[in-house]
Amino acid sequence: MSVVVFGSINLDLVVEVPHLPIKGETVIGNRFFTATGGKAANQAVAVAKLGIPVYSVGRVGNDSFGQVLLENLKFAGVDTSGVTIDPNTHSGVASIVVDNRGDNAIACAAGANSQIREQELSEFQRLLPQAKVVLFELGIPLPTVMEALKIAKDSDCTIILDPAPVQSRLPDELYQMVDIITPNEIEASQLVGFTVDGITTARQAASFLHQMGVKIVIITLGSKGAFFSSEEESFWAKPINVKVLDTVAAGDAFNGAFAVALAEGKSLREAMLWGNVAGALTVTKQGAQPSLPDRESFFQLLAEQEESD
Ligand code: RIB
Repeated sequence: MSVVVFGSINLDLVVEVPHLPIKGETVIGNRFFTATGGKAANQAVAVAKLGIPVYSVGRVGNDSFGQVLLENLKFAGVDTSGVTIDPNTHSGVASIVVDNRGDNAIACAAGANSQIREQELSEFQRLLPQAKVVLFELGIPLPTVMEALKIAKDSDCTIILDPAPVQSRLPDELYQMVDIITPNEIEASQLVGFTVDGITTARQAASFLHQMGVKIVIITLGSKGAFFSSEEESFWAKPINVKVLDTVAAGDAFNGAFAVALAEGKSLREAMLWGNVAGALTVTKQGAQPSLPDRESFFQLLAEQEESD
């Protein structure tokens, strides 16, 4: 019943700003803080906080950030035996600005994440037999992701890809190896080549991605909920009304909780609700990993949502 998460681990350097800077603009911010982050690490922590065994495969630098990142993963309950330490480069760092509506812009220095290759692939191979669900993202070299997908494809586990940070042209072969793809609107737009900004265009994008070979497409729509599409059915999962403070890691929370639901044998509809609940709780708090929901608040909101349906 475990989950394996393969991908990036970052330390986030966050500045709160009144508005996101445009090209050439310097914005005076209010507050600065650091938080443990990285899309894959966030997903692993989201899983661990919901109480399912989870293994992280990735790489950090041999620096103080790397130590903090590893310790934090362990503290959250993530098995870090598949995380290697790079002696030659720094840990991944993300420079993040968050505006007063909770929207964000992120630039990453991949550092150790960019060196993920054979060593991590063999860790992945070692851990894969434990996995019911595997989560991938794209903050690490694409050729490594492709190799890991080839390994995972021959197993019985469900393969979920969060195609972020988005790369507009992904290899055709990649789509055929993925069971479930989970872009947000911006990522979906870049993958399909037209603007995805609501349910109608999400449906068109899903159809494009099905044609590329993905069985299940989930497009997260932020405050508009999420769209689900498979060969059998498509539906819209309505948003959960919360006060938005910081949207960083909302997608990671969605992916983590969605994976936990599948690992526990829940239906895809239930898994969508689990993802939405985790995403909604995450945006009410600041920072990436510090904002991920604990079991108690997660199951409380889940029960409220189930009752109201
Ligand atoms: O999805 C949010 C994450 O994206 C941040 O934690 C940051 O590290 C970037 O990778």
